[in-house]
Amino acid sequence: MNDLAGKHIVLGLTGGIACYKAAELCRGLVKEGATVQVVMTEASEQFITAVTMQALSGRPVYTSQWDAREPNNMPHINLSRQSDAILIAPCSADFMAKLVHGRADELLSLMCLARPIDKVPLLIAPAMNREMWAHPATQRNMQQLADDGATILGVGSGFQACGETGDGRMLEANELLEDLVAFLQPKALAGKRVLITAGPTFEALDPIRGITNHSSGKMGFAIARAAREAGADVVLVAGPVHLATPRGVRRIDVKSARDMLAAIEGEATRADVFVATAAVADWRPATHSDQKIKKDGSGAAPTLAFVENPDILATVAKSARAQSGALFCVGFAAESHDLVKHATAKRERKGIPLLVGNIGPLTFGQDDNQMLLVDAQGVQELPRASKLECARRLVAEIAQRLPRP
Ligand code: CTP
Repeated sequence: MNDLAGKHIVLGLTGGIACYKAAELCRGLVKEGATVQVVMTEASEQFITAVTMQALSGRPVYTSQWDAREPNNMPHINLSRQSDAILIAPCSADFMAKLVHGRADELLSLMCLARPIDKVPLLIAPAMNREMWAHPATQRNMQQLADDGATILGVGSGFQACGETGDGRMLEANELLEDLVAFLQPKALAGKRVLITAGPTFEALDPIRGITNHSSGKMGFAIARAAREAGADVVLVAGPVHLATPRGVRRIDVKSARDMLAAIEGEATRADVFVATAAVADWRPATHSDQKIKKDGSGAAPTLAFVENPDILATVAKSARAQSGALFCVGFAAESHDLVKHATAKRERKGIPLLVGNIGPLTFGQDDNQMLLVDAQGVQELPRASKLECARRLVAEIAQRLPRP
C-alpha cells in the first residue's frame, strides 16, 4: 500500500524513551510513500541519534533553529510550509506544556507556533509515565491543545519503562501510522453511524463441534476501517475470525447467526448505514446437544437435521427505518457464475438499495477483490484492488447515495 504517497510529514521527536518507537514509525511512514522530515529537540537526542533518524528518513535531520543550511536561515518557516502534517511522536509532558503556552525557544516548538494553523494540522502522540499523564496539569494541557486545534492521538496502556503499569505509553508505530492515514482521508461519512457484519458464523452441534465456513472477515474489517477513516462512528459485529480490530472501531464478537441478529437489532436503531458482509450460515443444526455426541459403536453416523437461520440483512432491510430511507442497507453477494444476473436478482429479493457482487472463489481469504456495484440505476464494475482500496471506494459510493441533510 502507498497510503501516504505524495504526502510530506514533519516528524517531531521530543525527550522520552518512546523515541525508540519513532524509528519504526519513521520507517513505516516512508514505506507508505511519505517523504519525512525529522525535527528533534535536544532532549530527544539523549534517547536516539539524529544519524539513525537521517538514515531511516533519507533526509538530514533538523535540530536547531539556527541551522544555516536553509538559505534564508529560517528552518521554522520553510519546514512547516511544505508539510501536510506535523506529527510529534513522542510528545513529552513538558513539550505539551510548552505548546500550550506558545513557547518558541527551540526549533520544534517554534515551527509548531509558526505553522499556518488552518493548513498544516498538528498531531500529538503523548508519551510519559502514568502519574505524569494522569496529572491535572497534563490533562488540562491536553484539553487546551485540542481546543487550539491539535489532534491528540491518545496513549496506550501497559508496562512502562519506569517499571510501573498504567496509561501514558506512546501508541505503537503501526497504530500511529493507521491513525495518521485515517486523519488524512476525506471525511465523507462524518457524523454518520455505520454498522457492519463480518466473518462467518458458527452453528454449534455440541460443545465440541459445529458448522462454519471459510469467510476470513477481511472485507468487512476493511470496510470498518475505511468507514472510520471517513469519520463515521463504526460498530463491527464479527463472527469468529482472527483479525485485529481496526483502530477506533467498536467490535462486538458473536458466534451464531442468531447471536449476530440479536447484536445487529440492538444497534440498527441508531445506525445510518448497515453493511452486511458476513457469510451467515443459511442453516443451523435443528438440535444442539449439551454433551459431546459420541460414537455408539454400531458404525452408524448420526442423522443431522437443519433449520433455516434468520436472514439478517433481509430482516434489517424490512425495518421501518430502512424502509423510510433513514437506514441505508448494503448487501454482498458471493457467486460462482452469472454474477450480474444473480447479483441483480439478489438486490431485489433482499429489498436493498445497493448490493456488491463478487466472484466468491476469487475473493475468499484474498487480500484483494473485484466488486460489482448493483443499484436501481444498473451495474457498475470496479477495478480489482486491495480490499482496503475497495472498501474506501465503497464508502465513497455509499456516502454519495445517502440522503442530503
Ligand atoms: N445475509 C444475512 N443473513 C443471512 C444470509 C445472508 O445477512 N442469513 C446477507 C449476507 O451478509 C450478504 C447477503 O445477505 O450481504 C447475501 O447473502 P447470500 O447468502 O449470498 O444470499 P442468499 O439470499 O442466501 O442467496 P443464495 O441463494 O446465493 O444462498
